[in-house]
Amino acid sequence: MDSKIQHQISQVLNSLSRSGSLRTIPAIDHGSRLYLEYMGRKLLNLASNNYLGISGSDRVKKSAIRAISHNGASSSSSRLISGNYKLHDQLEKLLSEFKNQEKALVVGSGFTANLCILGALAGRNTTIFSDRLNHASIIDAAILSGAKNIRYRHNDTDHLSFILEKYRDRPSKILVTDTVFSMDGDTAPLVKMVDLCKKYNVLMVVDEAHATGIFGRGRGLAHHLGLEKEIQVHMGTFSKALGSYGGYIASSKEIIDLIINRGRSFIYSTALPPAVVGASLAALEIILEKPEQGGLLLTKSRQIRGFLQELGFDTGQSSTQIIPVILGKNSLTLKARQRLIDSGIFTGAIRPPTVPENTARLRLSLRADMGEIEFESVRNAFAGLARELELPGGTGTK
Ligand SMILES: Cc1ncc(COP(=O)(O)O)c(C=O)c1O
Repeated sequence: MDSKIQHQISQVLNSLSRSGSLRTIPAIDHGSRLYLEYMGRKLLNLASNNYLGISGSDRVKKSAIRAISHNGASSSSSRLISGNYKLHDQLEKLLSEFKNQEKALVVGSGFTANLCILGALAGRNTTIFSDRLNHASIIDAAILSGAKNIRYRHNDTDHLSFILEKYRDRPSKILVTDTVFSMDGDTAPLVKMVDLCKKYNVLMVVDEAHATGIFGRGRGLAHHLGLEKEIQVHMGTFSKALGSYGGYIASSKEIIDLIINRGRSFIYSTALPPAVVGASLAALEIILEKPEQGGLLLTKSRQIRGFLQELGFDTGQSSTQIIPVILGKNSLTLKARQRLIDSGIFTGAIRPPTVPENTARLRLSLRADMGEIEFESVRNAFAGLARELELPGGTGTK
C-alpha cells in the first residue's frame, strides 16, 4: 500500500483511540435475546432494539424456516428483474393496510429506505429540512440527493418555522424527521410540524424506525396522533420492534411507483431473501393480533425512567422505551458501562460523532419481555452506579 495512505490510516485510528472514540465490535453472542453472552458471561441485554422480544418467537422462526424451505436462501436478483416472490407482495399488501396507505414497498434495510425516498423525491432544485438529530441514513440520503440541505435545531418548531419562512419561495420542499429519536428517546412534535408543512406547502417524510411496533397500536407515532393521512411518506424498519430485517416505505401509489423507478438502492440491489420476508410477515401478524404490547412497554419504561431520575441521572427528554443516561465524557461513559457489566447488565456506550460532543451516554433500550427479576437487576445496578458517581439520589440507596 502507498505509504502516505498507510500513514493517514494509522493517524486516524490512533486519534480515535486517544479520544476514546475507537469503535470495535464487542465479543457478543445472541445479541437479540433478553440475556446475551459477552466474553463468556450472561448479561441482561439493554442494548438491542428487539423491543418486543419478537425476534426469537417460535412463530417468526417457523415462518422464516417455511419460507426458506419453499424458496431457497436467496432471492438472487433485484425485485425488478427476477427477485420478486409472492411473499414480498403479501408483505407489502399487509403493510399498506397496516399503515393505512395506498401502497407499500419493502427494501433492503431502513438505511436503504431513506436513501430510496430522498433519492427519488429530491434533486438539485429541492430543499430538504431535516432535524439536526435525525438518523445518519437521513443525513446521508439528503447529501446524496444533491438537494439543498437545511438542518433545524432539534425538535425546535420555532426555529423550523423561521427557516420555512426564510425559504418559503423555494420550488420543491421536503421536511424529514425521525418520530422517535434513536439516541435520545424523545418524540418529534408532529402535530405542529404537520401544520407548518401545510402552511408552507412542504412534503413530509417520517422515519418511524423506533416507533413501529410501539406507538399507535404498533402502527407508529403518526398513527397514534391521527396524522397518518396528513403525512405523505412513512418509512420504518422490520429490524427493531418487529424482530426481523428490512426497511419499508408506505405512501401514495404514485410516490411508491416513483421510488420503484428512481430509488437506486432498491433498483440496483438484490431483493430481501425469502426467509427474512417470511419472518417479517409473521412479525406483522403478531403485532396485529397483540397491538397493545408497545403501549405496555411504554408504561414499563416510564417506571424505569422515573427511578433513574430519582437517583439523579440525566435522562434527557426521553419519553419512550429508549432511555439515554447522559454522562458527558467518553471516558466516564465507558467506565460506567463497565460498572454495569460487572453488575450483570449490558448497555450501549454511545459517543460522538453518533451524539454531540460532551453528551456521551449509556443508551438503554427497554424490552417488553423484562419481568420483575430484570427490573430488580436494573434498579440495583443503577443504584450502585449512582453511589459510585456520588449522585444526589445514590446516597442511602440500597
Ligand atoms: C431512525 C432510524 N432510521 C433508520 C435506521 C436504519 O434501519 P436499519 O437498521 O433497518 O437499516 C435506523 C437504525 O439504526 C434508525 O434508528
